[in-house]
Amino acid sequence: MMKPPRHIAIIMDGNGRWAKERGLPRLKGHERGAETVRAVTEECVALGVEFLTLYAFSTENWKRPDEEVGGLWVLLEHFLAQELPTMMKNGVRLRAIGRIHELPESTRAKLAETITATSANKATTLILALNYSSRIEIADAARALAAEAKDGKLDPAAITPDTLAARLYTAEYPDPDLLIRTSGEMRLSNFLLWQLSYAEFVITPKMWPDFSKQDLRGAIAEFHGRERRFGGL
Ligand code: FPP
Repeated sequence: MMKPPRHIAIIMDGNGRWAKERGLPRLKGHERGAETVRAVTEECVALGVEFLTLYAFSTENWKRPDEEVGGLWVLLEHFLAQELPTMMKNGVRLRAIGRIHELPESTRAKLAETITATSANKATTLILALNYSSRIEIADAARALAAEAKDGKLDPAAITPDTLAARLYTAEYPDPDLLIRTSGEMRLSNFLLWQLSYAEFVITPKMWPDFSKQDLRGAIAEFHGRERRFGGL
């Protein structure tokens, strides 16, 4: 079998529509979406994917009704509690990117606890983008560079793309090779704008709750069929 992409990023879209099509509350769609997270993570471990980044909550998602937002945090807390034994068994290391300090206290606590418990795991790193905005991430990095320059610790003339990348939440991870977006939308929605510069995009019409391990393998096969030239010939 061909070497899998080292890092897969996914925009998990369509939970709400999946629920609506079935006359169910939106949160039911998110619950089923969490089951897809479980399956896809398992498959990444099985395939040897080193990094999996999932867009779970954007800074724009606070605009949704309180009931949905609160329900998502509760769902995440339950998911983390329930999945910890599996993550330990499978060697999944949990990390998070985004403005984590703005999350509800109980969610932050559960997240920190799970990140610590899984920190020595070596198979797949599961990175959850929570309260994430790529533009805020880049602006924060720019602010950090400006502060360092002002303090005389950094020569502005020496700033390169690597200097900025080192101040992003993702500094310690390689850039994603493959971006998957479900539910057919052709948008980046403020997700990893910098990091996805050379990623291959695979858009599937399936709603996230219907996305399967088979679909993940299909997306990886499509990735392998593409010729990546990184601007060369
Ligand atoms: C997009 O569907 C999905 C979200 C905004 C939330 C994603 C959350 C999960 C998959 C479950 C919890 C997460 C984890 C990591 C266990 P949408 O609601 O925008 O769907 P729509 O576009 O059809 O309304």
